[in-house]
Amino acid sequence: MPDIGFLNGRFMALEDVKISVEDRGFQFGDGVYEVVRTYGGTPFRLQEHLQRLQRSVQALALPMPFTLDEWSDFVREGVKRAGYSEHKIYIQITRGVSPRDHAFPGHQNATCVMTVRELRALDPALRRSGVSAITTPDLRWGRCDIKSLNLLPNVLARQQAKEAGVFEAVFVRNDIVTEGAVSNVMIVSKGRLCTAPEDARILSGVTRRLVLDLARKAGIGVQERDILLDELRAADEALLTGTTVEVLPLVRLDGRPIGGGAPGPVTTRLAGSFGDGRA
Ligand code: PDD
Repeated sequence: MPDIGFLNGRFMALEDVKISVEDRGFQFGDGVYEVVRTYGGTPFRLQEHLQRLQRSVQALALPMPFTLDEWSDFVREGVKRAGYSEHKIYIQITRGVSPRDHAFPGHQNATCVMTVRELRALDPALRRSGVSAITTPDLRWGRCDIKSLNLLPNVLARQQAKEAGVFEAVFVRNDIVTEGAVSNVMIVSKGRLCTAPEDARILSGVTRRLVLDLARKAGIGVQERDILLDELRAADEALLTGTTVEVLPLVRLDGRPIGGGAPGPVTTRLAGSFGDGRA
């Protein structure tokens, strides 16, 4: 099965996608991205991802040469061409190629890239046991709601997690838990599901919103509010949400157990209803 590439409206083999060294994505990280996955070969929550892509594009005044309907067709076509059992679709839009100068070029031609690769499911044993994380200072900029290519703090945090032998790094800013390096963070406290509010300090996760909806439908109280680091440490349960992690129990933080140090009942219930709803 081939990994599929896509450049500015044309499909090709992934290794044939070539971008200029003067692309502003490469020079400045001047661009945005999305990650979508499939379930049963169907892109999951594609409209939500594309709407967030459009919000990111607008927030940075990037050019957007394709409509969301066109993007939607490209994604489906890419999946059809790749033909794996499950797919990971990466979309990137940059401010295009121009001689290096920080300010926007007079004429902007976006570079639009998509890759479609095989998605390998997370080890089910991790879901059963739950995962560990470290905390790390949130060094990111003030617009984490934009899914920008500038991922250096996330890259460094993930490397720290890897070196610590844990799954995720949880960002903390002024004693407040913002989110994970590739996931949103939720806690269960006094029977309620709590997570950071949607503002410029976090990425509004597509999975986050879905999980909050599932909780409300299940009659679980939901609070979108700041979570203090001490609250996370003392939580009854904690969980990570995201396209790649889905609903993943977070059972240890900085070497200490959260709750019972094992997946709790609310997390297990939410993971179950997430699994039922996504097919
Ligand atoms: N990341 N927060 C951050 C910082 C993220 O990078 C992600 C996803 C999420 C979860 O968002 P969603 O539920 O919409 O996937 C939260 C993707 C998968 C990535 O960068 O690879």
